[in-house]
Amino acid sequence: MSDLRDSAPLLDAYLSYFESARTPFTIPGHKQKASLLDAGLGAVVDSDTPLYGGLDEIKLTNQTLRKAEKLAADLWGADYARFSTGGSTHANQAIVLALGAPGDKVAISRTAHRSILSALVLAGLEPIWMSPEIDSATGVPIGIALAELQKALSEKPIAVLLTEPGYLGTISDLPALVAAAHAQSVPVIFDAAWGGHFGFHPDLPKHALQLGADALITSVHKALPGYSASALLLAQGTYLNLNRIEQSFETTHTTSPAGAPLASIDAVRALLQTRGVELCAQLLKNVDEFKKTVQSEFALPIFLYASDFPAGRFDPTKVVLRVQQLGASGVDIERDLQAAGIRVEMADRDTIVFLATLADTASDFEKLADALIPILKRHQGQRRESATALSWSVTPQRGISMRDAYFAKTVMVGADKAQGRISADLIAPYPPGVAVVAPGEILTPQILEGLKTSKDAGVRIAYATDSTLATYRVVE
Ligand SMILES: Cc1ncc(COP(=O)(O)O)c(C=O)c1O
Repeated sequence: MSDLRDSAPLLDAYLSYFESARTPFTIPGHKQKASLLDAGLGAVVDSDTPLYGGLDEIKLTNQTLRKAEKLAADLWGADYARFSTGGSTHANQAIVLALGAPGDKVAISRTAHRSILSALVLAGLEPIWMSPEIDSATGVPIGIALAELQKALSEKPIAVLLTEPGYLGTISDLPALVAAAHAQSVPVIFDAAWGGHFGFHPDLPKHALQLGADALITSVHKALPGYSASALLLAQGTYLNLNRIEQSFETTHTTSPAGAPLASIDAVRALLQTRGVELCAQLLKNVDEFKKTVQSEFALPIFLYASDFPAGRFDPTKVVLRVQQLGASGVDIERDLQAAGIRVEMADRDTIVFLATLADTASDFEKLADALIPILKRHQGQRRESATALSWSVTPQRGISMRDAYFAKTVMVGADKAQGRISADLIAPYPPGVAVVAPGEILTPQILEGLKTSKDAGVRIAYATDSTLATYRVVE
């Protein structure tokens, strides 16, 4: 029984498909009966049906997807909504491709995810980097200051790209940033991959469109209970060309979208619409009680709290453990948690991020607290100062354009020969997937030493051609 089925057309179409008799001579080739070939393969694919010929007729006669997207646009107060099966990665690429022409400049937060950087390469846009402010007490990035945006605006960007919330749940002073950009008729786009729940409870931050932004991209599989890689792109038509966005979206999306992610976006929309306030209230309560329970065992503050930041500038559902306050290693704690069957979203030396969503129950949080407290006590040592993570502290030095570096002839050089060379790779400790160096930028001693330190501390170094960091891919 689904309570949402009547108010979610794609969910209804998905369920109806499996209730109807069918003998498909269409894709997908598994025909929902691959279990006849192998039980394991069948377990993976037999509940799959596509949009075309699954959730709708092959010719999309029923316009089921359009109806569901219109319902999402209405709920978020947008002129335009699209559902993606390619994650915020795809939605970011689609919107960035719709902004301008090669050579145009965009103001972009250095905390941007790599999907935004890859979108700039695809679109041939040039970044005007904006560095986040770092909070001296906690060492975390707290967003882009107005002065930093104004400096970038003086270079005449065609758009402003912000990552809000940041990976650790902090948020810029958005009304001021949006107003400054709009004063120059420059559109503001939020990559809100981690903020899909924003705007659905008075104690949560407002979502991008409520704050006057022109576009909001969010992953429905991150803070919301959607299918892996499901994402939502919402946009307003005042400063953005919606026809161009539509064209870029279709250019970069698969022509065979899977039905389950699409139906899940529709169902999550209906869930937020009917029970959003109630479920977000429960999540806020669960997180608050969990933090209180664990915190009561320790003298120093060990989580990030909304009270650490200006009002409304932190996602109160975010669970960020400041391991350095305990003098422990986040990577060691992660290992012990894994042995107890608990996986975390991110762990580095100083920080652990636990993803809490509407799907977690009070008893899940109790289980986590019961496992976590003895592990933290076991690893407790001498408090360390918060070392500002490498990702937040690099000042980029441009050698050549990102796009030129992307297409350049490249060579691998030993780490001892890399200093001063132009990186061809984007390299990012992951998560959070924030670039320490982007294609076209110079490998400085700070970057090389910092990457090595992060790696030695057990952090995964993503996207480098040689993830051992013994060699670097540089422009020839
Ligand atoms: C800020 C940000 N944007 C975009 C993405 C990409 O999202 P997806 O995995 O849905 O493609 C991520 C993924 O971690 C992210 O952190």
